[in-house]
Amino acid sequence: MRIDVLTIFPDYLAPLDLSLVGKARRAGLLDLAVHDLRDWATDRHRTVDDTPFGGGAGMVMRPDVWGQALDAVLEDDDATADEPTVLLVPGPGGEVLTQRTAEELARARRLVIACGRYEGIDARVAEHYAGRPGVVVREVSIGDYVLNGGEVAALVMIEAVARLLPGVVGNPESLVEESHGAAGLLEYPVYTKPPEWRGHAVPEVLTSGHHGNVARWRRDRALERTAARRPDLLARLAPDALDRADRRVLAGLGWYVGPEGPRRAEVRAAVVDDAAALAALAAVTFPLACPPSLPADAVADFVATQLDEASFARYLADPQRLLHVAVDEDRGTLLGYTMVVLDSPPPGQEEGAGVAELSKCYVHPDVHGGGLAGRLLAAAREAAGERGARTMWLGTNVANRRARRFYERSGFAVVGRRTFVVGGVPNDDVVMSTPVTDR
Ligand code: 6GU
Repeated sequence: MRIDVLTIFPDYLAPLDLSLVGKARRAGLLDLAVHDLRDWATDRHRTVDDTPFGGGAGMVMRPDVWGQALDAVLEDDDATADEPTVLLVPGPGGEVLTQRTAEELARARRLVIACGRYEGIDARVAEHYAGRPGVVVREVSIGDYVLNGGEVAALVMIEAVARLLPGVVGNPESLVEESHGAAGLLEYPVYTKPPEWRGHAVPEVLTSGHHGNVARWRRDRALERTAARRPDLLARLAPDALDRADRRVLAGLGWYVGPEGPRRAEVRAAVVDDAAALAALAAVTFPLACPPSLPADAVADFVATQLDEASFARYLADPQRLLHVAVDEDRGTLLGYTMVVLDSPPPGQEEGAGVAELSKCYVHPDVHGGGLAGRLLAAAREAAGERGARTMWLGTNVANRRARRFYERSGFAVVGRRTFVVGGVPNDDVVMSTPVTDR
């Protein structure tokens, strides 16, 4: 790649002789030249600026001097280039530089960087070169703050781009795991010797030699860091980039994974005002938990008589019932719910004290596998425990393997069977049970 920098402070770019960029230049991977803009000024004082039309503070860089300088630098090109030259104009008013921008720039054959000072460069310069064949103009900012000129920003851009050029960074794999890399997460924390320093030990897993555990640990820390520091980045991840373990970590941090990616979800006790939304959600989720053999009118009858708004209003008013909801934190939409009935033993058991029934545990199908059911169940279990429950049981259709696997992972074990009547039609359920207090 070839890079030309135009500036009135060429010395500002001296660091480009150092470190990785300096090495890349000496290795011939990067052909970099710095030019003094004043070489193209025409008066005795080598003036490059003038007062702004329309008035106001400060000075503006003259288009005629920039025009001469850029023409000369652009003309000096031996390539029969069909690939355009990118004319980069650093400035706080530009698009914000990201790793994606750096990746795009690193694919260019040639960059010309025009460093402005004062209030900036006369706007006609960008306009003019944008219309020149073979030139693409990009005005780029390095963040939401103001510098005195484009030189420091140019250093930043050159370093971000140069390290992406083939052969510049020794191990290209390090480009994948780093912050803003392909994973879309911030980087995990790193450690080296000594294993203990000022009372701080290196996390044990890193010295275990177990590569799988190390990878999982790093992934978990990256997720945690990104959630805490850059929730905006987390929210941009694609759902299929997140596996079951990722979702578990995110659920513990208050996130769920919906069809658009990770979002914040709150799990809380349900209130009377939730009745209508609960009925609407139940009308979607209940039929999906029924076996296909169950007639639709039986399902509809059950929904209309036991899962309607009036029923939920009654459940919510009953002190023996504990309802919890999962709600999208920003939108307020209902995503899932649970209902526990206290002192309600399974069929065939007399003694009900301390026996809680998990009567309902449903999550909207759009957000299945997103970690919400686990959070809802934990909230239900905790609330039941606080109300004196020592065991919790549930019935779920024998054919609903998805539900059964979920409950098994959550500590439930099959303890029997029951018949569950839906709209007058008997159904075979398994009964599963778990202790409440020891988790
Ligand atoms: Cl690229 N230039 C100046 N002058 N200020 C900035 C900037 C650039 N990026 C952020 N602030």
